[in-house]
Amino acid sequence: MTQHQRLLIIDFGSQVTQLIARRLRELNVYCEIHPFNSVTDASLREMAPQAVILSGGPASVTQEDSPRAPKAVFEMGVPVFGICYGQQVMMEQLGGQVEAGHHAEYGRAFIAPAPGHKQDGIFAGLFGTGREEVWMSHGDRVTSLAPGFEVIGTSPNAPMAMIADETRHFYAVQFHPEVHHTPNGRTMLENFIRLAGFTGDWTMASYKDEAIRKIREQVGDRKVICGLSGGVDSSVAAVLIHEAIGDQLTCVFVDHGLLRLNEGDEVVKMFRDNYNIPLIAADEADLFLGKLEGVSDPETKRKIIGGLFIDVFQKYATQIEGADFLAQGTLYPDVIESVSFSGGPSVTIKSHHNVGGLPEKMGLKLVEPLRELFKDEVRELGRELGLPESFIGRHPFPGPGLAIRCPGEITREKLEILRKADAVFIDQIRKHGLYDDIWQAFVAILPVRTVGVMGDGRTYDFACALRAVTSVDGMTADYYPFTHDFLGETATRIINEVKGINRCTYDITSKPPGTIEWE
Ligand code: XMP
Repeated sequence: MTQHQRLLIIDFGSQVTQLIARRLRELNVYCEIHPFNSVTDASLREMAPQAVILSGGPASVTQEDSPRAPKAVFEMGVPVFGICYGQQVMMEQLGGQVEAGHHAEYGRAFIAPAPGHKQDGIFAGLFGTGREEVWMSHGDRVTSLAPGFEVIGTSPNAPMAMIADETRHFYAVQFHPEVHHTPNGRTMLENFIRLAGFTGDWTMASYKDEAIRKIREQVGDRKVICGLSGGVDSSVAAVLIHEAIGDQLTCVFVDHGLLRLNEGDEVVKMFRDNYNIPLIAADEADLFLGKLEGVSDPETKRKIIGGLFIDVFQKYATQIEGADFLAQGTLYPDVIESVSFSGGPSVTIKSHHNVGGLPEKMGLKLVEPLRELFKDEVRELGRELGLPESFIGRHPFPGPGLAIRCPGEITREKLEILRKADAVFIDQIRKHGLYDDIWQAFVAILPVRTVGVMGDGRTYDFACALRAVTSVDGMTADYYPFTHDFLGETATRIINEVKGINRCTYDITSKPPGTIEWE
């Protein structure tokens, strides 16, 4: 368990709970998100957080069986901040009243200061312009305060939009301070953590030292194997573990024949040249492409690749004598349990490819040094470890690689064309200085041939789609608004430079309803 000062976020299922954690991390505060139904009075006391935040959520406290916070939250003598549903739960549990939604309010709203009340505690420094712009998303509202609370700010539809019990340091708001659309939300969160006594001890340098110490402790003199994909997460995990235990780490890089242009060589070179990390580079393109021959169903492709990856990894891993541990670049968003109100499993949109099942099969224990980090924190840690910027800033690349950018049947010919087109697109993006503004960009080769005319001849070649999105975490995404000039120039270059493509389209679907990858 971390030695840092700790803040607990109890999640009631809001879409934006993770943003609370993001904002706190930006303020150098270590926090954990736990679903409401996994926290008990006892576990809470054992965790001993220095402050608690109650998140928003889709339920109504007026409904029977709606979620509640463990009573200990209000009995431990620590500051508590309730947000939206968190505010309603706080009132309900402490003796106030909540009314079910006749006055739903979504989007921008303005809060006026309540006459005669000082803006102190978490509300210190607000109302500089006379009112506070906030982002609301609620159906219910508090209609009667619990004893000890006062109204600090009101809006027409939420008369108790900001409330405080300064004696106990309990605060609550009807809106969402964690979203960017609440411009002073950060001030409120900053005030909250300062008054809870946080000193901002969560920094990457301290995280790195602590992670290295923990890896040494966990591994002792045993050996670790790590599957390298060339992506940021597994690269950072490998370098960190290498710094901790040196040659006790061996990396395995599987080239499944579905990598981008020159990618395999670049990854191997970077690890061998810069880090001298023992590395097995496995060329298994024939195996993967052979098994994928004639397969066009997206889920079948993913399953074949995932299964083969495990087989191949296992084959090489067993060559490393005495390996007891498997390292994985699991990130915090992968770990957070999502809150399910239906009680049923969530729908599988796509089978993500990872080494799931392998640890049990091989009797390996897991080393997951990035489990507490968000993606951008992993990048920061990578910088702290001295990884080249060219690696750290790389766009994410999916485990199944180009297979899911090649809808329909995969052939070596199509992969070859796709690699070249993709390289031109990325080159264009870099040349125009756009690479770092974009979350992910790639080309998909479409399973259609179209007619064209080049010079004096007729062509009958593949069409391709360019895809570029902005995103924070890959969960939602927007297409990137390239200029028409950029798109025109890129299409011309691809069609001129890549034999086999004679038509270029730009995918302007956001996620949802689309996904980032085409399969
Ligand atoms: P989608 O297509 O689901 O992708 O919107 C969201 C993000 O996840 C990446 N992705 C994967 N990453 N294994 C991975 O490691 C996978 O099977 C996989 N499928 C999608 C995708 O590139 C995007 O960044």
